Amino acid sequence: MATPSLATPLALSLLHLLLVFLCHSSASPNPRLSNRTPRFPARSSLTTPQLLTQQQQHQQYRYETRYFEQQLDHFSFADLPTFRQRYLINTEYWAGPARMGPIFFYCGNEGEIQWFAANTGFVWEIAPRFGAMVVFPEHRYYGESMPYGSIDEAYKNATTLAHLTAEQALADFAILITDLKKNLSAEACPVVLFGGSYGGMLAAWMRLKYPHIAIGALASSAPVLQFEDIVPPETFYDIVSNSFRRESTSCFNTIRESWGILESEGQKNDGLLQLTKTFRLCRKLGSMDDLYNWLESAYSYLAMVNYPYPANFMMPLPGDPIKEVCRKIDNCPNGTSVLDRLFAGVSVYYNYTGEFDCFQLDDDPHGLDGWNWQACTEMVMPMSTKQDSMFPASDYNYTSYQLDCWNSFRVKPRPKWITTEFGGHDFKTALKMFGSNIIFSNGLLDPWSGGSVLDDVSDSIVALVTEKGAHHLDLRAVTAEDPDWLLEQRESEIKLIRGWLHDYYDKKQAFFAM
Ligand SMILES: *[C@@H]1O[C@H](CO)[C@@H](O)[C@H](O)[C@H]1NC(C)=O
Ligand SMILES: *[C@@H]1O[C@H](CO)[C@@H](O)[C@H](O)[C@H]1NC(C)=O
Ligand SMILES: *[C@@H]1O[C@H](CO)[C@@H](O)[C@H](O)[C@H]1NC(C)=O
Ligand SMILES: *[C@@H]1O[C@H](CO)[C@@H](O)[C@H](O)[C@H]1NC(C)=O
Ligand SMILES: *[C@@H]1O[C@H](CO)[C@@H](O)[C@H](O)[C@H]1NC(C)=O
Repeated sequence: MATPSLATPLALSLLHLLLVFLCHSSASPNPRLSNRTPRFPARSSLTTPQLLTQQQQHQQYRYETRYFEQQLDHFSFADLPTFRQRYLINTEYWAGPARMGPIFFYCGNEGEIQWFAANTGFVWEIAPRFGAMVVFPEHRYYGESMPYGSIDEAYKNATTLAHLTAEQALADFAILITDLKKNLSAEACPVVLFGGSYGGMLAAWMRLKYPHIAIGALASSAPVLQFEDIVPPETFYDIVSNSFRRESTSCFNTIRESWGILESEGQKNDGLLQLTKTFRLCRKLGSMDDLYNWLESAYSYLAMVNYPYPANFMMPLPGDPIKEVCRKIDNCPNGTSVLDRLFAGVSVYYNYTGEFDCFQLDDDPHGLDGWNWQACTEMVMPMSTKQDSMFPASDYNYTSYQLDCWNSFRVKPRPKWITTEFGGHDFKTALKMFGSNIIFSNGLLDPWSGGSVLDDVSDSIVALVTEKGAHHLDLRAVTAEDPDWLLEQRESEIKLIRGWLHDYYDKKQAFFAM
């Protein structure tokens, strides 16, 4: 795959952040910001200083790293090369096959698996209480689980990327579980699925598609309804926007005002150079879109990781980071320009540790990011911004989305495939009629919560919603600062999982007794 030029509408190579679609409407007075599809918070497979810090911090989770030979295409009998799927495993607390010790299985999402393992403390912490084994498989085409031997080969073109799909990933999981159970004589051991974000979607879908393989799923911050017209396209950015508005109206207004100012600055003769200096960028700004994306990404991620205590998920950040950003923006001395205020604010996100001499807009220079491919094929999530948000208003333009995908990958998206394959329209009725044992957990501060399931569907398909939670906060490790509502949410999850297991053991007894 060619490195996409940053001037292309689909700015694929940008800072592990947003897919950006430019608005081509010349009538619009707004900056050319449109139809952005935010990315889930996952790092690309390129190692970054943050990633290393996180790994070092979380070395308390002990596991063995193993590799398992997988078919590249589970749905054809074509003679294709196999690939090695990496998985992390810990059996230290496992009650073993005779006692039907459970298997806690995290559905790996779009990034290196150790990073998700390090940021999913909840699973590690509760496993001993359940006598559970812990398994973290890596998603194909990410980290070391690379078909064709290397990332360069795997990401070469639409043909080599063709097997990067959610269906193939779920089939990998199903086969891995089955083989692992066989090797451990653990066929009767119940499997409980976990996942956050896209991993949460995978966990929920896996429970629906493979009910014989897993008895239940905790799907945290899983926007399974963020497809087609199921939820309004402005949902995501409205939530981001409201998080800033809630914190401070003047902060919200400063950001809102900034787009127009940025645009007129950018149009000046040496505009890009001046802005490069204002925002202390390492390299000269290539286009305004790069800067818009950089800012917008910061706002979106801040909303996702708006955790009540200091955390280091995407970036090291203080607790309530939006409060901190707005404090910086609002508390600048009188007379400070909007752009300088903005800079002070986003520095909280990009430079909280104070270790950066300048900012690199693009930390994925090769554009080798699988999520862009997934967004251009199955994961088409319409996004727009409304007039009263802090972002420039723009409609969702599927024509330009499609065009950008074609230009980037020579691929045509299939926006209706996900709902055809996994459901989504009238999801609740469908689930009420045939599903069971799924927890949809969400925090309403998380911009992805708007595309998830926020009401109970049935007795066993339940929504656990916290007003002040952010992106899969519940899956994170316990901290001394955890608020009561978070502890309660986790206790409810534990109780429900325990219920699924009891139910399973009851049914097995009955089965054996027959
Ligand atoms: C993609 O790359 C592979 C491996 O180099 C090659 O065999 C194939 O013809 C290419 N496909 C397209 C559509 O360019
Ligand atoms: C099960 O054991 C076989 C034989 O040792 C091995 O090749 C395979 O990778 C194992 N399966 C898993 C899931 O580790
Ligand atoms: C800024 O100006 C406002 C209104 O003129 C004033 O109330 C406020 O105290 C000033 N703040 C600072 C930090 O000087
Ligand atoms: C990052 O923060 C440090 C400490 O406040 C500061 O010295 C440095 O100039 C900042 N970097 C940028 C690019 O603003
Ligand atoms: C949508 O995008 C296409 C392709 O870039 C463009 O021709 C069209 O005018 C856009 N539609 C609207 C309503 O902006």
